[in-house]
Amino acid sequence: MDVTEGGVTVEVPEESGGGEGAASGVFFNPTQELNRDVTVAALAAYREREPRAESYLDAMAASGIRGARAAANGWDATLADLDADAVELARENLARNTLDGEVVERDANSLLHDHDRVFDVVDIDPFGSPIPFADAAFANARNLVCVTATDTAPLCGAHFESGVRKYSAVPRNTEYHAEMGLRVLLSALARTAARYDVGVTPILSHVSDHYVRTYLDLSHRATDANEAVEELGYVYHCQQCLHREHEYGLLADAPETCAHCGGPQVLTAGPLWLGPAHDREFVAAVHEQIPDDAGSAKRARKLLRTIEGELHEPTHFDQHRVYKQLSEPAIGMDEFLAQLRDAGLAATRTHFGGTTFKTDGTLADVEDAIA
Ligand SMILES: C[S@@+](CC[C@H](N)C(=O)[O-])C[C@H]1O[C@@H](n2cnc3c(N)ncnc32)[C@H](O)[C@@H]1O
Ligand SMILES: [Zn+2]
Repeated sequence: MDVTEGGVTVEVPEESGGGEGAASGVFFNPTQELNRDVTVAALAAYREREPRAESYLDAMAASGIRGARAAANGWDATLADLDADAVELARENLARNTLDGEVVERDANSLLHDHDRVFDVVDIDPFGSPIPFADAAFANARNLVCVTATDTAPLCGAHFESGVRKYSAVPRNTEYHAEMGLRVLLSALARTAARYDVGVTPILSHVSDHYVRTYLDLSHRATDANEAVEELGYVYHCQQCLHREHEYGLLADAPETCAHCGGPQVLTAGPLWLGPAHDREFVAAVHEQIPDDAGSAKRARKLLRTIEGELHEPTHFDQHRVYKQLSEPAIGMDEFLAQLRDAGLAATRTHFGGTTFKTDGTLADVEDAIA
């Protein structure tokens, strides 16, 4: 089956997994088109931010669609995969688009540790957790590491032990579970990078269609690694009401009772990344780079506009949950946000859901504002 994305036409396996030839056993997920459209736009925006960045490693290439699209956009692309059929298909797909680029049958970790090669941008897009590749990526990438994680159940606390094992953090399954997953991932990535004296700055992050995607700008200075570690901390979450608070630092000191309802069931989550998960200017630049004919253009632009406007608060609320707790009917989002702002709170939508919002106020402030 042929698929055209971003001006590149590649052969991919049938969705059903049927078909014959090399393509049949190779992974391809059509629903990740948004992820790939945003990737190509982010790479273009990143080149403006860091003009020296030229080389791009698609470390888990599968059909090669992502690496081919990067190559079509002027990147010096290397496509790697452990699977021989994937490598053959990726090679054919570059050739049929007359694109330059190297395709190698290599384990991503061994390739990243290869001292003969340096990659400015490294893209990690594995099955499930990216953690087995994080050390090699941060120890060796020069400028930017892009990461997809599809193991959202461990990340957000739904599979608690697995999350603790993989991410060395305590995740909690709260109503802001998607953001919990993102911040558990960012925490683990920041701590991994810090081991190599590398500081990370998340410049774009999103949770879409059951995966987490983040773009981390690197600084190879120990002081910047210290600053990244300083963005870590804990969220204390009341299980009885929707109150939560956060505290920076690597030592947790949870309140014994909830400051809002007085209840004793305060759960601690962390260490989480509490700092910004995006850079507003970069997100705006990525938005500019989404072409009109991108398959996901409308959705990608809406996603990026929403992220651009998001406050840098580490958790979000769901308006419907707030009203449910008050036993009152929910109202329209625009009207709701206007009420919070009229009360002097900062308040924005979030990309985590149509009825979600971020605010600099506490739950009590929100309740007062809508009373
Ligand atoms: C989710 S797919 C990649 C999808 C692709 N990036 C895309 O956008 O369509 C994961 C790929 O990683 C490959 N893989 C698994 N372990 C690997 C390793 N250690 N090194 C390199 N590739 C690996 C698999 O063979 C598979 O093709
Ligand atoms: Zn409470």
